[in-house]
Amino acid sequence: MRLHLKIWRQAGPAAAGRLVNYTADDVSPDMSFLEMLDVVNEGLVKKGEEAIAFDSDCREGICGMCSLVVNGIAHGPDRGTTVCQLHMRRFKDGDTITVEPWRARAFPVVRDLVVDRSAFDRIIAAGGFISINAGGAPDGNAILIPKEIAETAMDSAACIGCGACVAACKNASAHLFMGAKISQLALLPQGKPERRSRVAAMIAQADADGFGSCSNEGECEAVCPKEIPISNIARMTREYVRAQFSSR
Ligand code: SF4
Ligand code: FES
Repeated sequence: MRLHLKIWRQAGPAAAGRLVNYTADDVSPDMSFLEMLDVVNEGLVKKGEEAIAFDSDCREGICGMCSLVVNGIAHGPDRGTTVCQLHMRRFKDGDTITVEPWRARAFPVVRDLVVDRSAFDRIIAAGGFISINAGGAPDGNAILIPKEIAETAMDSAACIGCGACVAACKNASAHLFMGAKISQLALLPQGKPERRSRVAAMIAQADADGFGSCSNEGECEAVCPKEIPISNIARMTREYVRAQFSSR
């Protein structure tokens, strides 16, 4: 396939960015989207030009590092799929593809398609620890957890912290990410002792980092590669309301 690419290039956080046109020739439908960018970069380096900077690590949909907006959709057109797992067979010969970074005030562009997502780390750090009773190791089944609760907590724990939910939200809200992290711990007995201070601190940190609030658009759920449902946001809101009353 021959593809026409419009790729966001930006030399640094303070530099002006712009879309630059490239042509990718001999693209195999079996390539992943990131492999296609690797080939484009090899061509640029051979010509002595600066390679396009983009984030990736596992390339298996696990780590949450890849973060591209493809034709206006965070992680591209396939539902429940990270952009590293998107394949070129999804496109047609002659297509024009626009590739941009996550856009949110809390995720400033570092270079080209790479954004700084350390704001997510600060939210997780604000959530703090869970209580562990010291002493001998408890028996595996000493704390009984109903299957439905365990499965819901595991579904929330599937969040890979990629930030697509923020990039897709018109408010740049981190509510789906926070809802998943808060639900994962608030549902399980081990996470309950600090549940009130945790939710209050994480939401305060998100406000301080410039994330917006939630207005129930549902865009976050639509692009989430792990299909985290927005019911996690409702659970977080309930946790937050309880935390506000319990602190009075
Ligand atoms: S909730 Fe989904 S989109 Fe948001 S950070 Fe987690 S995995 Fe990514
Ligand atoms: S590179 Fe790890 S999830 Fe995409």
